[in-house]
Amino acid sequence: MSSSATETVPSVSKTAPTSTIALIPRPVSVTLTGETFTLTADTQILVEPEGPECRAVGEYLAERLRPATSYPLPVQAATGAPPPGSIYLTTSGRDPALGEEGYELTVTPQAVVLSAPRPAGLFWGVQTLRQLLPPAVESPTTQAGPWTIPAGSIRDWPRFPWRGMMLDVSRHFFGPEEVRRLIDLLALYKINRLHLHLSDDQGWRIEIRSWPNLALHGGSTQVGGGPGGYYTQEEYAALVAYAQSRHIVIVPEIDMPGHTNAALASYPELNCDGVARPLYTGTEVGFSSLCLEKEVTYRFVDDVVGEIAALTPGPYFHIGGDEAMATPLPHYIAFVERVQRIVQSHGKQMVGWEEIAQASLLPTSVAQVWHGGMGREAVRQGNPVIMSPAFKAYLDMKYTPDTPLGLHWAGYIEVRDAYEWDPATVAEGIGEEHILGVEAPLWTETVQTMADIEWMTFPRLMGYAEIGWSPAPGRDWEEYRVRLGRHGPRLEALGVNFYRSPQVPWE
Ligand code: ACM
Repeated sequence: MSSSATETVPSVSKTAPTSTIALIPRPVSVTLTGETFTLTADTQILVEPEGPECRAVGEYLAERLRPATSYPLPVQAATGAPPPGSIYLTTSGRDPALGEEGYELTVTPQAVVLSAPRPAGLFWGVQTLRQLLPPAVESPTTQAGPWTIPAGSIRDWPRFPWRGMMLDVSRHFFGPEEVRRLIDLLALYKINRLHLHLSDDQGWRIEIRSWPNLALHGGSTQVGGGPGGYYTQEEYAALVAYAQSRHIVIVPEIDMPGHTNAALASYPELNCDGVARPLYTGTEVGFSSLCLEKEVTYRFVDDVVGEIAALTPGPYFHIGGDEAMATPLPHYIAFVERVQRIVQSHGKQMVGWEEIAQASLLPTSVAQVWHGGMGREAVRQGNPVIMSPAFKAYLDMKYTPDTPLGLHWAGYIEVRDAYEWDPATVAEGIGEEHILGVEAPLWTETVQTMADIEWMTFPRLMGYAEIGWSPAPGRDWEEYRVRLGRHGPRLEALGVNFYRSPQVPWE
């Protein structure tokens, strides 16, 4: 290319030749020179310092690039100036203004230099690097190349520290292999939280050693009456570690005191009348409650929170707390306040759906807004909120009336609707300063397979990723839809079963 262009986003699309760059989420600033770097069979990945965290990011990058390029891409400790043709990853002496997750990427015809104060920043910078390569680089088999990267520099950091997706593994169960695939797809778009909805009326999905019947009986079915399933503690710990290797924090949720039929079916003593409930495979909500007058209920909660907290390196434990229609409000409030202390006693911060804000919250507790009204109450108490407004951010809503999967009680959410909103203006009384981040929940009443998960999630999740990461000024649907369309071949190379919205000019 002969011309050079320098610019600051939001005007990337004007000066970056559209054939060279289509990054999602859009970075904070991009400058292109018009030159290119080319990956070759001699390219090395050099890391500095030679610690396990930086090396792990280097190995991760090499693993992504080897199948399609069939290049060896050795990962080595950097010694002195990087030789021409190498990719250099460093956390030494870099700009602390980039924060926990920011990075700086400088590409010249001679080298790729990715620097970040923290390994998470390197990891997100690697995702940008992947997206700067041709889409075929994501193919699992050898492709022709050439493997060029547009030269220039990018400085980038996230708007919010919480950029999440939730997967309901209770209504339908999804095994570790499916969750790992999802984690890999989330990483490409810089999503850093995976909230797992591990229990509900229809199924209990994690082994609890002190209450084994929860998983054995409570996990034995699902919506529609299929076999269900659960994660053993070993499987769950391995999932958490896998997510951690992708700089994604798994947030475990045990929903209570409502949405507890699977537990009430597994242990009669959790019911006020001492009679176990039958297993439930329908899709109604709001009919179940733990017995809040019995001391055994708090022993149960303490055991469950304790065992899961011990498997959780992340700081959060989500207690659900939504739609407790079968629980009298004064009991509900007292329960949330007591469970909040149990969560704290196991070293975790409580997260709960916005209904928890009816209780008096500890300063560390976080409310997840899904309909709005009670989120304001959390803000009034000075607590941070996660924004998941159902009518914009629920991945289980149908795209259109013709969508075969999904529900529509909160409306239809086409790709444009999913993108064209802002967490700081969507709910009255909740502003930027109150918001920890955004999260898109996928409830799975109608979602039965990995192909279903992918179809409901992609491409809407990419819009949520951009809302959570990119600066709000300049976010523009007309510009975004073109950039999104250019991710079609990349999603195809990854084998993703995505919804080809007619709103998007897919390549
Ligand atoms: C919810 O959708 N019940 C949080």
